[in-house]
This record gives sequence, C-alpha cells and structure tokens, in this order.
Amino acid sequence: MVLHRRIVFLFGLLALCWRAGGSENEYDEHSLVKLHPKTSSHLEAIKDLDNPEHGVQILKRSRTFDDTTDLLVPANRVQYVQAFAATHNITHDVRENYERTLESPERTPRRRMLRGFNIFEYHSYAEMQEYLDVLANKCPNIVKLQTLGNSYQGRKVRLVKLSSNHNAGNPVIFIDAGIHAREWVAPAMAMYLIQRLAIDPDAAKDLNGVDWYILPVVNPDGYEFTRSSKANRLWRKTRSKNANCFGVDGNRNYGFKWAVSGVSKNPCDKETYAGPKPFSEPETQMVKNALMEYGKRIKLYVSLHAYGQYLVYPWGYTGDYLPREWKKLDSLARMVSTAVQAAGGKPFRVMSAGKWYPAAGGSDDFAFGVVGVPYSYTMELTDGYEFTYPERLLKTVLPQFFEGFRAFGTQIRREFSPSRHKRDE
Ligand code: ARG
Ligand code: ZN
Repeated sequence: MVLHRRIVFLFGLLALCWRAGGSENEYDEHSLVKLHPKTSSHLEAIKDLDNPEHGVQILKRSRTFDDTTDLLVPANRVQYVQAFAATHNITHDVRENYERTLESPERTPRRRMLRGFNIFEYHSYAEMQEYLDVLANKCPNIVKLQTLGNSYQGRKVRLVKLSSNHNAGNPVIFIDAGIHAREWVAPAMAMYLIQRLAIDPDAAKDLNGVDWYILPVVNPDGYEFTRSSKANRLWRKTRSKNANCFGVDGNRNYGFKWAVSGVSKNPCDKETYAGPKPFSEPETQMVKNALMEYGKRIKLYVSLHAYGQYLVYPWGYTGDYLPREWKKLDSLARMVSTAVQAAGGKPFRVMSAGKWYPAAGGSDDFAFGVVGVPYSYTMELTDGYEFTYPERLLKTVLPQFFEGFRAFGTQIRREFSPSRHKRDE
C-alpha cells in the first residue's frame, strides 16, 4: 500500500514535469463544435466535412434541420472550422477543451464491488460477465449463456439467451450492443434488458412465445480501452492491429456491400476504417456466426448504439432507394418511438440509415440483406451529452427504452408466434 502510494506519487511528479517541459500536449486539446444546419445548402456543405482533408472527427451526423452535426476538432483546426461555418453561414457553437470535461474512467471502487451489481451504473466487462453468471445461476430455466468465441485480445464473448421454453423454437429477437467502444449507454441498456427479462415477474408476458437473444458487448477490447484512461474515452473501433495502427470500425466490417460507401480505407483513420476485408474482425465474425446459426428464427435484429435518438432501418449502404418492405420497417419503428414517448422518453427520429447518411458494411444491412431478418434496425440511444451519457440518468432512461423493446416484442409475437393465442389481447 505504502509502496503503491509512492509509485502513484512519483508518476504524479513525472506527469507534472513532462507537462512543464514540453508543449506536445497542446495537440491533445480538442474542441467540440456543433453545427446547426437551417437550410439544405447548409446540409450540402456539411456533407463535405466527411472529406478527411478537413481534419475533423465527426461524432454525430445530421441530415435534417432538427439536429446538430457534432465535430471533434483539434485545437489547431478550430479556426479553420469556424471559418468554414462562417463561409457557409452555419450557426455553430464551440466547447473548448472538450477532453477535460470527460468523466474519469470508472475504476470500480471497492465499495461498489461489496454492494453488488447496480444495473444503473457503468461497469467493467469483467463485472458484467460476473453478473451474467449470477443471473444464469439464479434463473437457470430462463437464462442460458452461449460462448461465441474470443475477442482479438482474448476476452470471452457470450450470448445471453432468454426464453420461457428453450426447446419451443420460438421466434427470436436478436439484440447486440457495444460494437462501438465509446457508446457506453448501449451495453448498459442491453444489461438492463437482460435483467428485466430474467427477474421481473412482469416480464413473463414479454417472454411469452418470443425468445430474446442478447449480446451485451460485441467489442469488449474497445470497451475496456475506453475505460483505461480519459485520453482513450472516445475510442470507437476494435483493437486489432493493421499496418501500424489499431482498430477496425466493426460497423463497416460486415460482408454485405462491403466498403461501397461511407468508409475509410486507411487503417489509421480513427473512425470508419472498414478493415482489410469483410469480417476481418473476430468480433464481427462471432455476431455473423450467431446470426447464421439462428437464421430464419430471427424475426427482429436491433443493434444498440449511441447517440442521437435515431431508430433507422435498411438500407444503410445507400440513401438512393429503400427496401420493398420499408413501410413495415418504418411503422414498427414509429410504434416503438411512441411507446418510449408514452413512458416519458424522447421520440426517435425514424428513417432509413442511408437517408441519414450512407455507410456500408453495417450489421443492420447484413441481418436484413443476407440473413433475411424481416425487421432490422440500428437504435441510437440518448440525445445530449454526446458519448458520455451521465450515469445518474440511467435509472430514468433505461426503463423508458425498455417500453420500446416491449413494443418490439408485442409486434413480433403478433406476427410470428404460433404458440401465442389471440386470447391474451
Ligand atoms: N451510427 C451508426 C454508424 O455509423 C449508424 C449505422 C447505421 N447503419 C448503416 N448501415 N449505415 O455505424
Ligand atoms: Zn455506434
């Protein structure tokens, strides 16, 4: 303990010295710039920011007037971006030293471990896995854990299967979260769903005739990386090594229309590198294999992301056309949004992913286009606070989103469950 203190103390001193000794850190400073488009020529101009030569990272895109485009801009590019906004007459605001405002990573203080798992907190991957074992032991008839494989760095990835009768061959709702490392609220939502379905007596009706298969953290290596230090909090990709850089954008790595739009070919791109080939990542391979294994039983696929409060459906690779069945996709999304709103939450912006912005190689398009899942969505949870949705608000929003999932379940049961009798409606 004493030794430990001393090491911390020494490192503290060193850190001070380095800071005082050089100015390299000034390039670690970033501003958050929010653009408020008001006309279609604003939207047109904003599209061009995708071009890497602008030197900005796009945290969230908007293709409508009711939403902002959020940019992470290195300190030495802020003037440039402000000039860009001024040239095009786009209202914008700038938050300086954005990285300093990020909360320090959750290191799981000892008091938390003693008090047990609080579902309304952000947890380490190990803690989540421990809690899944607790639930599986507590409710062995309902909760079954299936190991899908290992992440790039060797973390075990498990699918949580919830069913009131695992042998009935019920229609399956398949949900994953955490393909993008920094979107912490997504795994938190997946864990909450698992907990409610497993232990809430009222959830019996949600499990009636429908099975829920939930993969709470697709990219555990990336997730742990974002927890390792404030400097890594905004990491998005996996942690595989390509050329001399790290990580692939898992949601550009699926093998359907791979890399035809909205991707980077540069392994050092921090955001949308599609990988050296489709399914180059063990993480996306595991999801693919699970989707293929349950194939035609899967009637709904939802990939949980953050942020922006969008609920989008295929196609994601293009905004030029919609699938033949788009009206069904659209109307179920609106029902879900209404249910969340009825529970006190914010409505979702509903559209095709490609109309929001085209990006190929997403899991939603793969589930829809290759696996043949009739309802497929990407759900962007929360709006406000960017990727650092405050822990203290989880107990408000997770139950609101849960009501949206209930609405999904109701529709899947109504449309696909033979064992459900009309009497319960
Ligand atoms: N924010 C998500 C992403 O950039 C949206 C994905 C929507 N789906 C799609 N196929 N483009 O990955
Ligand atoms: Zn995402």
